[in-house]
Amino acid sequence: MPIKRWLCLLTIFMSANVFAWGGKGHKVIAQIAWDHLTPHSQAIIQPLLKQKGFQSLAEAANWPDLLRDDPAYHHTKTWHYVNLPRQQTSIKPSRDCIRGCVLTALQTNLNRLTAVNSDLNTKAQALAFVVHLVGDMHQPLHVSFAFDKGGNSHSVLFEGKSINLHYYWDTAVLGNDQRWLTLAGKIQKQFSHVQQELGRYDDFYQWVAESHKLTQKIYAQPVKIIGAEKARTDQNVAYQRLAQAGFRTAVLLNRVFESTL
Ligand code: ADE
Ligand code: ZN
Ligand code: ZN
Repeated sequence: MPIKRWLCLLTIFMSANVFAWGGKGHKVIAQIAWDHLTPHSQAIIQPLLKQKGFQSLAEAANWPDLLRDDPAYHHTKTWHYVNLPRQQTSIKPSRDCIRGCVLTALQTNLNRLTAVNSDLNTKAQALAFVVHLVGDMHQPLHVSFAFDKGGNSHSVLFEGKSINLHYYWDTAVLGNDQRWLTLAGKIQKQFSHVQQELGRYDDFYQWVAESHKLTQKIYAQPVKIIGAEKARTDQNVAYQRLAQAGFRTAVLLNRVFESTL
């Protein structure tokens, strides 16, 4: 293959992680959510998955990241995160969500999912975005700063490789010694206690505030080389965020579908 083609493929591969928890994180969150959905919610979700040909909620949760290069979904690019000025302490949609952000996009998709006049396809897409975006809100660097694109232009050395800080928190921190289904089972057991501290079922501001706090901590102690001990600490934080996102997605969807026949 010509070198240009290789470089092009490499660029595509490397940029694939710019937008969200990697596929593994989203699948883990969706699986934890699925395991905590009521039979009633699952029965409502099944035909929506079928509509889009998704084999599972996990596959649906990953779908919004596959749309990036589709011009029809160009407007969804800013939906995956929110950036705020460094000195600010809280998100202000009138300032931070002008072109759409994870907070406004979650509300938009919840409205589409529940609107009586939404067709099946609209509802199926909205469901995929709801699960995906609750996940993104829990990735610390998805509530971050514009100057380095949420860590995308900040490189660190991890396991002998130079990677960007955003990719580290999306993907690398999760490790690669367990498959997503195994990891989902392990995390929901290990963090089952966090279910007692989830807060209100729709306090989206609280969820992004938690991520913002973690991001501020990450930026307050910048490191160039991430050693094994720090990686273990970070992995524990990331696993807890996956658990919170999974449990919260289930509570939210159970609430949303409770009143639906
Ligand atoms: N692009 C710019 N800021 C970003 C962020 N916080 N997360 C993901 N992608 C981004
Ligand atoms: Zn995303
Ligand atoms: Zn990301």
